[in-house]
Amino acid sequence: MFVRKALAAGPFLGLAVLLATGSPVAAAGSVAEGHLLARQWCSACHIADAAQASGSADVPPFTEIAAAETLTADNLAAFLANPHPVMPDMALTRDEIADLVAYIRSLRSE
Ligand code: HEC
Repeated sequence: MFVRKALAAGPFLGLAVLLATGSPVAAAGSVAEGHLLARQWCSACHIADAAQASGSADVPPFTEIAAAETLTADNLAAFLANPHPVMPDMALTRDEIADLVAYIRSLRSE
């Protein structure tokens, strides 16, 4: 919980620190909450975790997104700040975005 309070105080500072230190796991959001959000909101299309057998064709699984060389917490958060074109109703809060970023980045080491 202390992590989330710190996030509310300065999400962008948190991301800047994360980028500066190059930590493999995002410090700003909660991996566990991001995982729950991913199952709830993302698994209709993406394969969101190892327990999920299939997602939509042509939608990248989160492990693939996490492994991309170009992925940073910054560009992932920026992508999630706007709904994907195919998802007109998705509006995530900053906290939810930070949690999802933390979760997806955590998949990198698995
Ligand atoms: C309605 C289906 C659908 C849902 C639900 C969905 N996505 Fe996506 N997502 C897509 C499609 C299709 C693409 C690829 C096309 C694009 O980038 O718009 C994509 C692309 C992405 C990408 C970029 C991948 C890349 O390599 O550029 C990220 C990151 C992402 N989704 C995260 C999420 C997260 C996090 C959620 C849940 C909050 C979510 N998506 C929910 C369909 C979906």
